[in-house]
Amino acid sequence: MLSISVEEFLFWKKKQLSKGGDKQSFAVLLDCIGGLSTTDLNLIILNPEGNLHLKKNLDYLESIWNEHLYKSCPIQYLCGITFWRDLKLKVTNKVLIPRPETELIVDIVFNIFRKNSEKLFFAELGTGSGAISIALALAYPFSDGVATDINQDALDIANKNFINSCKQSNLKFFCGNWWSPLESFKGKLDLAISNPPYIPKETYEKLPKEVKNFEPKLALLGGEDGLKHIREIIQKAPFYLKKKGWLILENHFDQGEKVKQLLIKNEFTSIEIVKDLSGIGRFTIGRYK
Ligand SMILES: C[S@@+](CC[C@H](N)C(=O)[O-])C[C@H]1O[C@@H](n2cnc3c(N)ncnc32)[C@H](O)[C@@H]1O
Repeated sequence: MLSISVEEFLFWKKKQLSKGGDKQSFAVLLDCIGGLSTTDLNLIILNPEGNLHLKKNLDYLESIWNEHLYKSCPIQYLCGITFWRDLKLKVTNKVLIPRPETELIVDIVFNIFRKNSEKLFFAELGTGSGAISIALALAYPFSDGVATDINQDALDIANKNFINSCKQSNLKFFCGNWWSPLESFKGKLDLAISNPPYIPKETYEKLPKEVKNFEPKLALLGGEDGLKHIREIIQKAPFYLKKKGWLILENHFDQGEKVKQLLIKNEFTSIEIVKDLSGIGRFTIGRYK
């Protein structure tokens, strides 16, 4: 641990933020690399005459901040960590950085199934860092979950994140294309969730460079119209869900109505388009008959 004066630190912090970037990303840097949480910082500021302790020196922190600003690399990849709901998750460029809007998927599940007590069997398709599945495994400790991804590197990270988040063993990871690793669970799932790649090809080409140059294409691109994977997931869902089992999908901002039609075509009922906090129809949910 290095000790520096609060005054020197605050001067340095102001200089870094004046170069660009946002306060939230800077807080991630301070917390994950500097070992200084936002709560620590708020307390320290109350005593500007004192000293504070950092895990790394200011030059090192500044070099990472510069890389973030000048190469547009997401701070989460540079720090190897992201915060999502109440989880602290390891991330590398093999996994999508889980987005704040996706946090609502877990709340949708809470609205359907009573927290804690329910004994569910759930699946997540395309788990990436494992964020959604881990949150559900923790919220429903009597449940069992299975999470798939086509990318074994992503599954290794998800597995590490699960081990780091709890001592539970109610979540298992499987590698393969969407439902295919779950053959032995056909007709047994109470719930399946997916935030699949849904960006249409043309939109993908125009994504900001901090996304396009760093985040995995495999996690973003949803084919020509963005619905390639959603179509496949919906078509096969009836084989895997129990009668009245739920399917919860995240989709692109303008895909809600199309996803709804796909669910209707595949005999789903109780279909609803659920809005995110910006009022966008971000999720489409339904029950199999
Ligand atoms: C949009 S990311 C979602 C990651 C994570 N669930 C989240 O919400 O942050 C989509 C994930 O689907 C995975 N994926 C892409 N194609 C797949 C396929 N054919 N079968 C299974 N998983 C796939 C990607 O590797 C990626 O991890």
